[in-house]
Amino acid sequence: MAENKGAYYITTPIYYVNDKPHLGHTYTTVACDVLARFKRLDGFDVMFLTGTDEHGLKVKQAAEKKGVTPQEHTDFFAKNFRDLAEVMNISNDDFIRTTEERHKAAAQGLWNKLVEKGQIYKDSYSGWYAVRDEAYYSEDELTVTEDGKRIAPSGAECEWMEEESYFFKLSEWTEPLLKFYEDHPDFIMPQSRKNEVISFVKGGLRDLSISRTTFDWGVKVPNDEGHVMYVWIDALTNYITALGFPDENADMFQKFWPANVHMVGKDIIRFHAVYWPAFLMAADIAPPKRVFAHGWWTIEGEKMSKSLGNVISPYDLIEKYGVDASRYFMLREVPFGNDGDFSDEQAVTRINAELANGLGNLAQRTLSMIFKNCDGTIPEVTDFTDADNGLFTMIRDELITHIRRELDVQKFHEALRYFKMAVDAANAYIDEQAPWKLKKEDPERMKVVLYTLAECIRCLGLVIQPFIPETSEKLLGQLKIADDARNFDALPVPLAGGLAIDKPEGIFPRIERKDEEKEGQAA
Ligand code: MSP
Repeated sequence: MAENKGAYYITTPIYYVNDKPHLGHTYTTVACDVLARFKRLDGFDVMFLTGTDEHGLKVKQAAEKKGVTPQEHTDFFAKNFRDLAEVMNISNDDFIRTTEERHKAAAQGLWNKLVEKGQIYKDSYSGWYAVRDEAYYSEDELTVTEDGKRIAPSGAECEWMEEESYFFKLSEWTEPLLKFYEDHPDFIMPQSRKNEVISFVKGGLRDLSISRTTFDWGVKVPNDEGHVMYVWIDALTNYITALGFPDENADMFQKFWPANVHMVGKDIIRFHAVYWPAFLMAADIAPPKRVFAHGWWTIEGEKMSKSLGNVISPYDLIEKYGVDASRYFMLREVPFGNDGDFSDEQAVTRINAELANGLGNLAQRTLSMIFKNCDGTIPEVTDFTDADNGLFTMIRDELITHIRRELDVQKFHEALRYFKMAVDAANAYIDEQAPWKLKKEDPERMKVVLYTLAECIRCLGLVIQPFIPETSEKLLGQLKIADDARNFDALPVPLAGGLAIDKPEGIFPRIERKDEEKEGQAA
């Protein structure tokens, strides 16, 4: 039994149900899944939450357009996100929908606490409002078009709105937030985002309008049913709903709050790193430990958008590359935190080089030699050379330490770079040692080399499980690694000799390039 290292709580943003999931959504969820899986294998008790954000004017309008009720609309789209999580092999422990009763109770519970603490007051509000962003903008943030339209920095059109509204005393939290950022230097990551947030807060915060009267598709404000809550106070509360809030004594709440990481896209950092900790501190609840904002995917240089018709569906990716290769590519290609550009060309190159030729080839070459030349059993050997021991040190002892360290700061690309270096080292070793030559010249040494490689494959298969769970399962299965020997605790326990392996099967097929297919047809 692995040592229990304590609780670890990770969340994705909850996704708007006005559209089908695309590459951007999948990206956040896969990143969180890798962390959740890694932490479980590393001995933590993990809670991993994802879900859907189902209230707001946008949803109501989208439902009206389709001629269905908002609930029917959200049921349909929430299912898309749930299905995708399954297809992408996402290991979430819960899936929250903001239209659930448990969530309404939590949002109202937080509201009541803020009222109790004197943090909410009623006033009236007028300003330029963008329905698409569910946000008000100040005049100086807007551009005015020739025909007098006001456009927000996000490109959304604004309209003048005037309504009675409840306000949260955000302005009182400017100093406490700045102090919080100072005392918790790792709260906002990466650094560039942290600087951006701090300078925004230093500019001074205004009280925040947190209720709406112009539509009713939302959580009702307690004791004033003409108001529904502003979508962001509603949505952010999901992170504690899932832990049993408003019951702060609930086991889950006690165990998992504050969250270790809220993973978000850079566009929603302000809500998570300013509003959310302010709401929580005002309600006397600890803020989360970290908000990590990743970058955006563009498609061959362009922003992904329905009107450009370049939205990448995760299902297309899966069809072309498979689930695991898609997961690997997303996290390997772009430094996590930066923007990245998607192209099939890069995907094929990366997948072929590192998965098909790299890991796939290493496993295939090694296991088929063992199968043919060692009676299909792992050789029993003892005399290791410096070259063998060097590889063990790198892959069995040090690799996990590098990966653990990088994942603790959400550097998925760096973790995978260490993995790739280990695969390359093993492939270089097989070329240098040339076990196919040793077969005649020195069969005993051949056995040692093949054992060394099999042991490296076991360790590589173990550490890569969070990224490519299905393939590593196949790989560990071929090596007959027992289920209870797949935690990271099992890494230092060497592969036993004498065990029979399964007939090896390729784990990563090479992906044919479109131009190769054409050449192939012409030939
Ligand atoms: N509902 C809010 C989040 C509330 S959390 C309390 C929301 N939803 S969203 O569906 O619009 O976006 C969810 C996430 O997907 C965001 O983190 C966003 O940054 C991410 N992405 C959407 N498009 C993206 C790309 N093109 N690239 C990478 N991620 C992007 O915001």
